[in-house]
Amino acid sequence: MPNATVSEDGQINLPAARAGPHPLAPEPQPRGDQMLQFAVDQDLCTQCDLCISDCPVRIIERPENGYPRIVEDEADDCMACQHCLAICPPGAVSILGRDPESSQPLSGEALPTLDAMERLVRGRRSVRQYRAGNVDPALLERLLKATANAPTGVNRQGLTFRVIDDHESMERFRRKAMAEVRDALSAGEVPEQLQAVGRFVQAYFEEDRDLVFRGAPHALVVSAPPDAPCPQEDVVLALAYFELLAQSAGVGTVWCGLMKMVLEAKTSLKAELGLPADHAYYCMLFGNPAIEYARTVQRDDGAAIRHVRL
Ligand SMILES: Cc1cc2nc3c(=O)[nH]c(=O)nc-3n(C[C@H](O)[C@H](O)[C@H](O)COP(=O)(O)O)c2cc1C
Repeated sequence: MPNATVSEDGQINLPAARAGPHPLAPEPQPRGDQMLQFAVDQDLCTQCDLCISDCPVRIIERPENGYPRIVEDEADDCMACQHCLAICPPGAVSILGRDPESSQPLSGEALPTLDAMERLVRGRRSVRQYRAGNVDPALLERLLKATANAPTGVNRQGLTFRVIDDHESMERFRRKAMAEVRDALSAGEVPEQLQAVGRFVQAYFEEDRDLVFRGAPHALVVSAPPDAPCPQEDVVLALAYFELLAQSAGVGTVWCGLMKMVLEAKTSLKAELGLPADHAYYCMLFGNPAIEYARTVQRDDGAAIRHVRL
């Protein structure tokens, strides 16, 4: 920018004022609607206010005779739950760059019946016998993406799904893990409360029995950062959803506390998987099952049901 000049007659000429705000002025804050990419298709909106009443943090308002918008200065409270998009009957609301046409419709579409869900929940089994080979990668991708829709505390999301998606890679990991835990046990490096893993490692080397990874071709490790509101709950829920989705598609799964024990017994194995030391996590094995269960088990009395009235 040119500086001020003094003309021959002593006149001081200031440079022309720059168009726009002063360079040191704070950037104008975009409105909440822009920050959240909240947009309402006015041709579709019926001004029913369902988006307003269902917003868990109450940051949507509608001026009289106008259309829904984000309350000034409250965009930061948005939980990114997308309820406004999900509840709008005509599909008028977009938010966070998501348009309603890309959602799966719910009204009029068949959700699984209670009968089907009951059969899935009672018929789901821990699968400990697997066929060799990989699960179809397209199916796996579909299962993982659907699992990412599982709920998280305060809708924090932010989970990481680490998948050993290739059976040869799983085999290498299995061998390495067993050998490293055996060596760590011999060197007295395994904390006392984890030493019980020793008999499973021994069975692997002495009896050729894989009681830890159950010969599974894949593993899924879900982790959550420690600053999430509910890290352990989020992790377990995601795996529970994955398990039901997988088993509905004929993919076998088994929760694997023993894999977690192995990872804790030799923590460099966690680093090998890219698992940060301070993340909450849990493990599940999966693959194409080598067995088929003919019927459900009968555990309706497996939990105490207490009806509480106050
Ligand atoms: C948190 C958790 C950890 C588990 N860890 C293992 C494990 O390390 N190895 C295993 O074979 N099964 C494991 N299981 C599977 C249970 O043994 C199994 O769920 C239980 O015996 C009931 O059988 P079902 O899953 O077929 O109904 C685990 C299950 C849960 C819920």
